[in-house]
Amino acid sequence: MSGKDMALAFDYQKIDQAYLDDPFPTYASLREHDPVHQNPDGTYFLTRYEDVVLAMRHPAMSSDKTVDFKPRFGDGPLYTHHTTSLVFNDDPYHSRVRKLMSEAFTPRKMAELDPIIDQIVDGLLDRLGGEGEFDVLRDFALALPTEIIADMLGVPEEHRHKMHNYSTLILGALDPIVSDEKMQAGHDAVEEFGALLEELIAKRREQPTGAEMGEVLASLIFGEVEGERLSPVELVQNCIFLLNAGHETTANLVANGVGILLDFPDQMDRLREDPSLIKTAVEEFLRFQSPLQVGNRKALEEIEMGPEGRKVLIPAGTFLHTCIGAANRDPEIFDDPETVDIGRKPNPQIAFGIGKHICMGNTLGRIEGHTAIGKFVKKFPKLRLNGEKRFHGRARFRGLAQLPVAVN
Ligand code: HEM
Repeated sequence: MSGKDMALAFDYQKIDQAYLDDPFPTYASLREHDPVHQNPDGTYFLTRYEDVVLAMRHPAMSSDKTVDFKPRFGDGPLYTHHTTSLVFNDDPYHSRVRKLMSEAFTPRKMAELDPIIDQIVDGLLDRLGGEGEFDVLRDFALALPTEIIADMLGVPEEHRHKMHNYSTLILGALDPIVSDEKMQAGHDAVEEFGALLEELIAKRREQPTGAEMGEVLASLIFGEVEGERLSPVELVQNCIFLLNAGHETTANLVANGVGILLDFPDQMDRLREDPSLIKTAVEEFLRFQSPLQVGNRKALEEIEMGPEGRKVLIPAGTFLHTCIGAANRDPEIFDDPETVDIGRKPNPQIAFGIGKHICMGNTLGRIEGHTAIGKFVKKFPKLRLNGEKRFHGRARFRGLAQLPVAVN
C-alpha cells in the first residue's frame, strides 16, 4: 500500500502493535497526505502543528466529556472521575477549579520544591549507586513524581506504593480499545484511591493548619472562588486527577529522555561535555517523544482546518483527536524534526498543550526533568543499554515499559 493509501485507510479505533511500537511513520504519512483525517467513526485525527494549536486555542472547542464518555464508562466511578476532572470540563467549572489549584503551583511554591526534588533524586541515585544493573523506569523515573505528588496531597508513606498502579489503571481505561477486565480495574482504582483521599480530607479538615505537606489538598479543601468551595466529589476527583496528570507523564519524560540519549550517543556526549544544555535537552525530549501523544476536543461550531488549498470544513459537534506527538515533528515548524538536537532553538514544542488547559504542572515537570536526567547522566558515565528497550504500547501516552541498563 502506498503512503497515501495507508493514510486514507487509517482508523484510530483499529491501531495495531506496529503503530503502538512506533507511531511516527503513520503520523508523518497522515500529516503529508491527509492532515485532517476523518476516521470511519466520524471523528477527525489532526497531525499538523497549526491545526493542533488551533484546536487547543479556539474558544469554540470544548473539553467537556459529559456526553462522549457516557457510552464508554456508563454511570460507574470512571465516568464520575473523568467528567469531574478539570481537564475534561469547560468554563465556568474549569476556571473555578483551576484558580483553586493554581494556589499550589505559584513560582514561589515551585521554588520551594526545588531542594525537595534535589533531595529525592540524590536519595534515589545513592540507592542505585551500588547496583551494576537496574531498570531506569521502575527503579528511578517512577519514584520521583510519585513522591512529589504524594507530598502535595499529603499521602502517608504506607499508601504511596499503590499510587502508580491506581494511575496506570485509571488512565489505561482511556485507550481507544479496552477489555472488560481493564475497564473494571479502572473503576476499582477510582473507588479505592477515592476512599483513601476521603480519609485524608476528613483528617485535614479536623487539622486545617500545622501540616507541612498536602499543600494542594489544603488549597482545594479550604480555597474559595467567589465564596464557593469545591463539593466533596469535585475535591476527591481532582486530587485523583492530579496524580494521573503528573505522575506517569513526568516518569515518561525522564525515562524517555534517558532512552533518547542512549539511542543518540553523540547527544549523550554533548550533554556530558556541556551539562548546561540540560534545559534545551529536556525541551527536545518533550518534543521528540511527547509523554501525552494524543489529546482531544469537540468543535462546538463549524470550523475550517488544514493547509491552504486543502482546507476541510469540520461540522459543529465533531470530535477531534489532537495529535501532539505528530505536531511536535511537523517539518513546517521544526528543522529536521526526526533528528534529536539537544541544543535546538527555537523549540516551540507543545508537549504541555497550549491555551486555557495548558498543563498546570509544566514548571514542576520541567524542574523534575532537569534535575533527574541531569544528575542521572552525571552519576553514570558508563551507562549502557542492557536488554530490550520496550514501549508500553498505550496509544495516548508515549512511555517505556522497561529500560534495562548497566552502569559499570
Ligand atoms: C512531563 C510532564 C507532563 C506533561 C507532558 C503534561 C502534559 C499535559 C498536557 C498536554 C495537558 C493539557 C491537556 C489538554 O489540553 O487537554 C496537561 C494538563 C494538566 N496537567 Fe500536565 N503534564 C505533565 C506534568 C504535570 C504535572 C507534574 C502536574 C501536576 C502535578 C500536571 C498537572 C496538570 C493539570 C492539573 C492539567 C489540567 C489543566 C487544565 O485543564 O486546565 N501535569 N498536562
